Amino acid sequence: MSNRSFLPGSDHPSMPSHISKNPTETFPLVLQPISNSSAKNISIKEWVKETEFWIEEVLHKYGAILVRGLPLSSADDFSHFIDILNYELMDYTSGTGIRNVVSGNVSTASNELSSVSLEPHNEMAYTRNYPSKILFFAQTPAPKGGEGVIVDVREYAKLLDPEIKQKLQETGIKYIRFLQDRRFGGYTSWQDSFLTNDKEVVIKFMNEHNYDFNWDENDNLTYSQVLSPIVKHPKTGEEIWFNQPHSHHASYFYYHPDFIDSKLEPHLYPFHCQLGDGTELSLDLIAHIRQKIWLSAVSIQWQKGDVLILDNLLVQHGRMSFEGPRQMFVSILK
Ligand SMILES: [Fe+2]
Repeated sequence: MSNRSFLPGSDHPSMPSHISKNPTETFPLVLQPISNSSAKNISIKEWVKETEFWIEEVLHKYGAILVRGLPLSSADDFSHFIDILNYELMDYTSGTGIRNVVSGNVSTASNELSSVSLEPHNEMAYTRNYPSKILFFAQTPAPKGGEGVIVDVREYAKLLDPEIKQKLQETGIKYIRFLQDRRFGGYTSWQDSFLTNDKEVVIKFMNEHNYDFNWDENDNLTYSQVLSPIVKHPKTGEEIWFNQPHSHHASYFYYHPDFIDSKLEPHLYPFHCQLGDGTELSLDLIAHIRQKIWLSAVSIQWQKGDVLILDNLLVQHGRMSFEGPRQMFVSILK
């Protein structure tokens, strides 16, 4: 990890040299057919019927369940699988990732450049309108790199410096986005992020979700919200360390090929965060968080057809950079 190209914080002395934790029998929990002949006879409908209730009951215990050997080979198959599952879908309005919708319930996992490694994060922890579950489908694993990365939040949070945790709890974390008007052709426009060309639709969203926001004279939008770094798990009532000051910080772009020569004020990058009182977070503090995340990370060597089911509060996900064709899909659920 240390000095890896286009990995946020990779040049900080605290960055671990490599992912040192191995998957265990329970993280992720792997479900697979007992034999090739049994795999041939699996009906998706039957499988869902038989396992859905059980998954719902145990997901908060394991956090991550990797299902292998299902007869799924395309985004349409994955979409059909999601349809059968009895979950409520969430849309990705205001999401920071770069994705495109493939069908009503499935998007590309990330259209970010293949040279960029995406550090582990909880999906949409920068809002309070986040998914409870996130499912990934490996249609085409990369021939080189592109591993999935998962982090058990309960384990990682134990490694954090208690003073840093206390500081973040005292002030909260201010998540800021700067979305340019589409005519400037930036990273993500407000039109693309909110799937509209109508400012009034965006203003309604801002008001409904209690964001502070303003438009500048060039129709660029800045908005922000201060959030607690902790949420309550809906199933267990446990307080969970659920936030993303590292992967929502302007320093993400310091390591991004498209921004490498930019020398902008932090709040003029597409996203940024600060302490709740508006004080900048130091790069050492962000590096500390990144270090503890990578020390807790477990990698997944994708196999074609894999489905990974994550409790989004308990498990972070990321991906390593890759070469060659790779196609992953995602579905986010309420
Ligand atoms: Fe994500």
